[in-house]
Amino acid sequence: RMRRWQVECRPEIDTFTPGLLALYESLKPSEEHKSKQNQLVDSLTKSVSKEWPDAQLHLYGSCANSFGTSHSDVDVCLEMETGTESTAEALLKLADVLRSDNFDNVEAITSARVPIVRMSDPASGFSCDICINNLFAVANTKLLKDYAQIDQRLLQLAFLVKHWAKLRGVNETYRGTLSSYAYVLMCINFLQLREPKILPCLQAMEQTFTMNVDGTECAYFDEVHHLQDFGADNKESIAELLWAFFHYWAFDHDYRRDVISVRMGNTISKQEKNWTTRVGNDRHLMCIEDPFETGHDLGRVVDRQTLRILREEFERAAGVLQYNDDPCVTLFEPYD
Ligand code: GTP
Ligand code: MG
Repeated sequence: RMRRWQVECRPEIDTFTPGLLALYESLKPSEEHKSKQNQLVDSLTKSVSKEWPDAQLHLYGSCANSFGTSHSDVDVCLEMETGTESTAEALLKLADVLRSDNFDNVEAITSARVPIVRMSDPASGFSCDICINNLFAVANTKLLKDYAQIDQRLLQLAFLVKHWAKLRGVNETYRGTLSSYAYVLMCINFLQLREPKILPCLQAMEQTFTMNVDGTECAYFDEVHHLQDFGADNKESIAELLWAFFHYWAFDHDYRRDVISVRMGNTISKQEKNWTTRVGNDRHLMCIEDPFETGHDLGRVVDRQTLRILREEFERAAGVLQYNDDPCVTLFEPYD
């Protein structure tokens, strides 16, 4: 076990950067993958417009926020007037339309926090989640995409962390671990807290983009081409950052007291959010504030047992990067 006071990484950590960057490159989606994705969107647009001619299709999640790999699903949000129909009714109708247009495995999941239709596309083999009028997802997709354009180390770090989480079995919200979206927010917040900073806090800057979603103003500075040199004073390599990320979540994060907040570019206290006790199913043991839906804790699914599993995995990862002879392989060994 490493100890809290041991905060320096091994001196030769940088020798692992080329291997990690090669892995990162191999995870990026291919051009072929992207064009298949576009074909799916086209055929979906055709299906939907028959029933709802005014509906607008938005991509959200990793196929649009630039954090997607070749294994990511396609997330689509339909923006449309549902009239007197409830969202659930509209989704059931949508499911019928998609079935008659020969999409596979069409299933309406109306009981979820965000109700969706899930289906797969026989042409591409992709699975696809479709929600209706969930414009928070569209707004946070743009926010993540804009952060990704400021410093390339964010994409590199987040791809490696997502890849690690999938292989280690800690990217499964239905089993009490974290979503991909939560991991990306953890990476952004981590880079906002480096010294010198690698990422700014876009929501604390002049508001050049605003979008009103159900009465909540989603606003931030989106002219990120002005921020290309923001992280230039920080010379940390990706190997160093990956180690420091795991080290932070293994040893330094104050799970009892703190909430990580991309919105504030900092950690804030559970006290000020009233997240000190369990409320319904929200346990608030590991707290990750959604940048726009600030009452939403992305860590709400984590319970005592999965928190222990997560912390052991963070510790293992930090230890592998610190001591292992072949960390680029050992770090990503599938957990069985
Ligand atoms: P992969 O599909 O694993 O590559 O990542 P992803 O970025 O698409 O993440 P995921 O499928 O977990 O989530 C899709 C999108 O749903 C996110 O990018 C957010 O825009 C949105 N979202 C909003 N709230 C939540 C939430 O509580 N959980 C999840 N998972 N997604 C949310
Ligand atoms: Mg997705």
